[in-house]
Formats: sequence, structure tokens, C-alpha cells
Amino acid sequence: MIGVFDSGFGGLTILKGFLNSLPEYDYIYLGDNSRAPYGNKSQDAIYGYTRQAVDFLFKKGCMLVIIACNTASAKALRKIQREWLVKNNPAGRVLGVVVPIAEAAVEIKGGRIGVIGTRATIESGVYEIEMSKLKKGLKIYSQSCPLLVPLVEEGWIKKAETKMILKKYLRPLKEKRIDTLILGCTHYPFLIDSIKRIMGKNCQVLDSPQIVAEKLKNYLERHPEIGSKLSKNKKRIYYTTDDPQKFKQFSGKFLGENIKEVEKIEL
Ligand code: DGL
Repeated sequence: MIGVFDSGFGGLTILKGFLNSLPEYDYIYLGDNSRAPYGNKSQDAIYGYTRQAVDFLFKKGCMLVIIACNTASAKALRKIQREWLVKNNPAGRVLGVVVPIAEAAVEIKGGRIGVIGTRATIESGVYEIEMSKLKKGLKIYSQSCPLLVPLVEEGWIKKAETKMILKKYLRPLKEKRIDTLILGCTHYPFLIDSIKRIMGKNCQVLDSPQIVAEKLKNYLERHPEIGSKLSKNKKRIYYTTDDPQKFKQFSGKFLGENIKEVEKIEL
């Protein structure tokens, strides 16, 4: 099974990408909704929560866990891979979303790249670090957008107020004449239409879920020792640390699937 972890609902955008590109696999999704958002929390808190979630998913039988949350990928992934995994589950694999998106961004011609994300992700500088390892001479401009996650969670996707706030956040990046924009937060693909409209045709807004799904496909092809061991029965299992009814409604609507069961768990 493939585990997909997010602080809450946002990672469903990444899961949807997997279900489109790799539908044959079994997936367990875990949303830590009761402790979300992670975006304004400390590194220690984000690491502690993420480690518990990864441990839970391994205990449920996952061999591979994708940290779908940018904030957790930025603040916890390296430590989990280098320290926790080595001691606790050397055969397991944990991957994040930042590296695949950074790789896709540097492949695009241009080199004036904007990054938007939560405060924790932007302050970590993780996208700058990963992209600079891959290509020299890039111009990278970052902008944290702390109001966007709560607006998406409230379902204010098409509201005029949300568009106004988006315009304010994106203006400095437009002024820098960026040619590529990274949506460095799981919630932002919900707003991609408005973001594309604001940025205009000279800026390519990257489709993070599609990129991450393509990169996972590629990873599984390159690592048959993992890919061949993952079950393929099209099973989907959902866990949340908060209200399972609310989770069922939101995820069912967003994924366009009838989600029969969501189990509430404690981490
Ligand atoms: N999932 C988080 C991310 O991608 C956004 C929500 C949060 O702050 O927890 O950064």
C-alpha cells in the first residue's frame, strides 16, 4: 500500500493526481485535521506530528509513504529519512513533494521562478535550496501566503475576497516578471484557475499534483524492488484525526467518489 499523509485536506489534491495517473495501487490517506494547519507551527512540532503519522502508516502496512504536505516535506522529511527511518524501518521509504516539484521547475526554460507557500515552507527556503542544487543562475522569488489555507478550508475558492487577497500576494511576483510559478502548498491547486488568470499568459503555473504523480510513476519504474511489492487492488482507505463526517463530505466532493468509510484515529 502507498500511504499519503497531509496535515489535513490539502493532500487530497496530491492523492487525486495519484488516482488519475496510478489508479491500480492501494492507497491509505491520513489527514491530521485536528492539528492542522501546520504552516505556522515550529519545526519541532511539525517533525513530531509527521513522525507519528509516518509511523502510523507503516504500522497499517504501507511500504512507501508520500508526505504530500509541503510544510512537512520542508521541515520534517530530511530528519525522518536520515534518522528515524534508519532506526525504525530501514526497509520503508518516505518521499516528499518538494524535490519533484523543484526538478520540474528547473526544467522549464526561463529561470525566473516564483514560489508561494505557507510561512514555514517559505521561511525554510527549501525550494531555493533544492532548485539551486539542480541549476545555477536561477532568479527565485518567494512569497508566503498565510491567509490562503484558511480560505480554501472555508470553501471560499471563487469568492471575490479570495481573488483580492491572491492579487495582493501575487503582485510582487508579477512585478519581478517571473516566468514560472510553483504552488508550494497542497491547498493552492484549489485556486489554480484564479492564480493562472492573475499571473497571465507569460507565466507558467505548475500543476503540482500532476508533477508529483508523474515523478512517483517514474520512481516506481526505477525502483522495481519497491514497485513490485506494492499491492494493486484499487483499495482506498481514509483516516482523519478529526471529524470523520466532515472529512467524508469534503473528500467525497473533491475526489468525486463515494467514500464509504472514514475512520477517526488518534496519533
Ligand atoms: N498541507 C500544507 C502544505 O502543503 C498546508 C496546510 C497547513 O498549513 O497545514 O504546506
